[in-house]
Amino acid sequence: MQNGTTNGTEYFDLKDMPHIIKALDRNQKLQPDILHLIGNTPLVKLNKIPKQEGLECDMYAKCEYLNPGGSVKDRIAYRMVLDAEEKCILKPGKSVIIEPTSGNTGIGLALAAAVKGYRCIIVLPEKMSDEKVNTLMALGAEIVRTPTEAASHDPDSNLMVARRLTKEIPDAVMLDQYNNVCNPLAHYDGTAEEILWSLDDDVDMVVIGAGTCGTVSGIGHKIKERCPKCIIVGVDPFGSILAEPEEINKSDVQMYEVEGIGYDFLPKVLDRKIIDRWVKTADKESLNMSRRLIREEGLLCGGSSGAVMWAATQAAKSLKAGQKCVVILPDNIRNYMTKFISDQWMEARGFKPVIKHDKLPWWNVVLTKNMIQPITCISHKSTTHEALEALKKSAAPVLSIVDDEGGICGVFTADNARKRLANMAASTSEDLSQFIVKKYYTVDVTQAPALGLVSRMLDISPFVVIVESVYSTRKPIGVLTSEDLLQLITDKSLNLNCS
Ligand SMILES: Cc1ncc(COP(=O)(O)O)c(C=O)c1O
Repeated sequence: MQNGTTNGTEYFDLKDMPHIIKALDRNQKLQPDILHLIGNTPLVKLNKIPKQEGLECDMYAKCEYLNPGGSVKDRIAYRMVLDAEEKCILKPGKSVIIEPTSGNTGIGLALAAAVKGYRCIIVLPEKMSDEKVNTLMALGAEIVRTPTEAASHDPDSNLMVARRLTKEIPDAVMLDQYNNVCNPLAHYDGTAEEILWSLDDDVDMVVIGAGTCGTVSGIGHKIKERCPKCIIVGVDPFGSILAEPEEINKSDVQMYEVEGIGYDFLPKVLDRKIIDRWVKTADKESLNMSRRLIREEGLLCGGSSGAVMWAATQAAKSLKAGQKCVVILPDNIRNYMTKFISDQWMEARGFKPVIKHDKLPWWNVVLTKNMIQPITCISHKSTTHEALEALKKSAAPVLSIVDDEGGICGVFTADNARKRLANMAASTSEDLSQFIVKKYYTVDVTQAPALGLVSRMLDISPFVVIVESVYSTRKPIGVLTSEDLLQLITDKSLNLNCS
């Protein structure tokens, strides 16, 4: 072959370079479609975190986030579709797949639906990331969002809305991951077999996040059959009732940020008998551990992976040198690019200390009431028309919506109202509750927040609402935008030394 030149220089002599050639997997030369690549995920040794945590055992990560759709749930989605096709419940080109999910089962189903040609409608709570929604839409799924706070039996919950839509839409089928045996079966036949094969049927502990509980129940059953000594650890966030004993957890009810694990009901696919130990997890430890898995082990995983790994660092203390602990990493970083991967997002929630800026004299100055702009408050009983009128008269881009005690229960913004009217064909004659924004940033003056924190919040939000806690009521007292903060830090009379 003739040696060509690029920009007048000889190209590298590739043939004569030192070569590193990995053994080729002769069974995987060609794949008929992407769905055939679901499963057979790698089991990877963890080298730094176990050592730093003083653990003696060997730890391995089952990288479920490397599935084609980015999560462990590809396995069950594909399995449920194949099973329903075999039973003629799903008819290609005719049936409509509808599923309530925290997103990843939806992505798995949307992936299968895209390849196989089904219409797919995914019903998921508002809490779930926009990244998941965008992935679902890119796969051609239709999205219905439901309020995060709706309990599972509430008519507005994603479960109930999906059930109603399945009745209303012709040829709709809900595969129902909460009750479908294919959910644990996909892990019994697949994930667990792979773990046992990788470790020659010798494993001492497997640590698994609990959502529908298909993963923990399916893996648990197979591993106990083949390796009865193995301890199965279930991981459940504070705020969920999946872990036993329930009495303790009832007092825990609270909102948590980690997605995909925890529920307020017991799915049929959960088999508590198979779980030897439960570990409860909190957002801060979980999300910081996800960041460590990414930074220190190079595993580009999601938030529940951190919860599982944190739980494993607690549970595996009982294991000795030479014993083997497997942690399941359910989904990937893609779902959380604007969430825990963002430092500002972590700092705004108090999951990470606010970045230091010693050279900025205003950064650590405490926000006081004289620094804030007034915010207009409207009652939660107002109409949407009244809210729009109040917003027109307001200098700030946001109104606070207050309950009968004067506590903030949400905000009304032009941006959200426009989005609802434009993208969801909503009408201003609808109730104000349809226009309320529940995800927004606040700082509480009673906690002496620094201007630096406000600035970090403004990096990711157009405004920050200032509240003052009076007993348990959070009263809105003002607002700050980037423009307001800029005026403040350049205002000579305040002597913050910025001009
Ligand atoms: C990110 C994530 N982690 C963990 C789980 C839990 O898996 P399972 O539903 O099998 O309990 C899910 C389920 O959706 C998930 O999306």
